[in-house]
Amino acid sequence: MAVVRCNPRANFAPVTEERSDFDLRVRGRLPAGLQGQYVRTGANPEGDVNPTRHPGLASAGMVHGTLLGGGRALGYRNRWIRPPSIPKHLERELLLPAGGGAAALFHHAGQLHATAELGLPCRLSANLDTLGLCDFGAPLPAGAAPHVRKDPKTGELHVLAYHFEAPYLRHHRIDRRGHLLESRDLEWPRPSMVHDFALTESHLVVFDLPVLFSEDAMLDGQPLPYRWHPDAGARIGLLSRHGPVDTQWFDLDPCWVSHLAGARREDTRIVIDMITAPAGFHRDCWGEDEGVCQLMRCTLDPRRGVALPEVLDADAQEYPVRDSRLPYADSRWLWTTALETDADGQLPAGRCLYRHDLDTGERIEVAFPDTCLGGELTFVPADARAAEGKGWLLGYLWNPEDDTSELLVLDALAPAAPPLARVQLPQRVPFGTHGCWVPG
Ligand SMILES: [Fe+2]
Repeated sequence: MAVVRCNPRANFAPVTEERSDFDLRVRGRLPAGLQGQYVRTGANPEGDVNPTRHPGLASAGMVHGTLLGGGRALGYRNRWIRPPSIPKHLERELLLPAGGGAAALFHHAGQLHATAELGLPCRLSANLDTLGLCDFGAPLPAGAAPHVRKDPKTGELHVLAYHFEAPYLRHHRIDRRGHLLESRDLEWPRPSMVHDFALTESHLVVFDLPVLFSEDAMLDGQPLPYRWHPDAGARIGLLSRHGPVDTQWFDLDPCWVSHLAGARREDTRIVIDMITAPAGFHRDCWGEDEGVCQLMRCTLDPRRGVALPEVLDADAQEYPVRDSRLPYADSRWLWTTALETDADGQLPAGRCLYRHDLDTGERIEVAFPDTCLGGELTFVPADARAAEGKGWLLGYLWNPEDDTSELLVLDALAPAAPPLARVQLPQRVPFGTHGCWVPG
């Protein structure tokens, strides 16, 4: 038993029980302003799996929520995401059961949603039960890509959907009340995987990377039939956000871009900050362990039609998080999580966080408490009018020494100060992907 507990890969193992627990033990003081639920998703396959291996992006998903209010940790619950059967007319369109994976979460128009790598989003209740599929009141024929982007000024939600048949990419714009305003087929040449994208005030920044739909992989029954094809080249598309589709392309050396920190216009150029790896979905179908994930910057010069990449931080890291109430042009602070590496490659978690100062380029490193490993952190503003970064960072930690998990709460602007609070969770929370704050 002790050997398993010392192996960080032991936290890939799924949990087998759905629990509801109340009144959790808190070390430190929870800020009274934290009123809501922190929810994080991740793969949690049912049945027989290798407990020390990444379960894959297309596995069954599970959400873990911790409810906070009045300075107390009111409860914890975890639930599988249980998508309903797909409507008949969409069966051919979708490769995976709707919401069958566990990619990301977003909160929009008062509703929590879970997205999958392929398929339709699911709506979740405050109790984390799956309510049903979500199409925002109009058909989303190709589902939705995992990451959505909200315009901080208009409150509109931008959703991309990629597909293995033409049209390969669609763009949906959804108003602040959750109704579809517009759907457009984009100029997209091939069935590439589009996990994330960035938004500027005028454009969508979308990567056409050499991770392409593979018919062989689909016929082979692979749950996520996309594979690395480095000879297929890579490029960045700068697409108009509204109206007629107008795309400018910028060639890029083959790489995998997992997540975008943001994109902003600087005079005539577009500056994009992102996490890149040398390859993706090459060695296996979960896309992990493909070389070091680094923080990169890519500057697009539309007049010359060139993209100029540079490494901002070469250390392994993931999950760029910022105060998304602001456009990226006004952002100073960016938080990422260092990734732990062992003989088998990178883990989706690490022993410290990095806070990047985008104005000065300075980085500070903050170790997680004890021997804990943590994944993505979620930023929660102190209140709606708080200055940038004034608020908290929340994330689940797992301690390989005693196989326990906790919710960590840090002061986002002073993360190196002792944790504000550590909430002891009633069961281990496996490594996951993305989190979300549900206020109220
Ligand atoms: Fe993601």
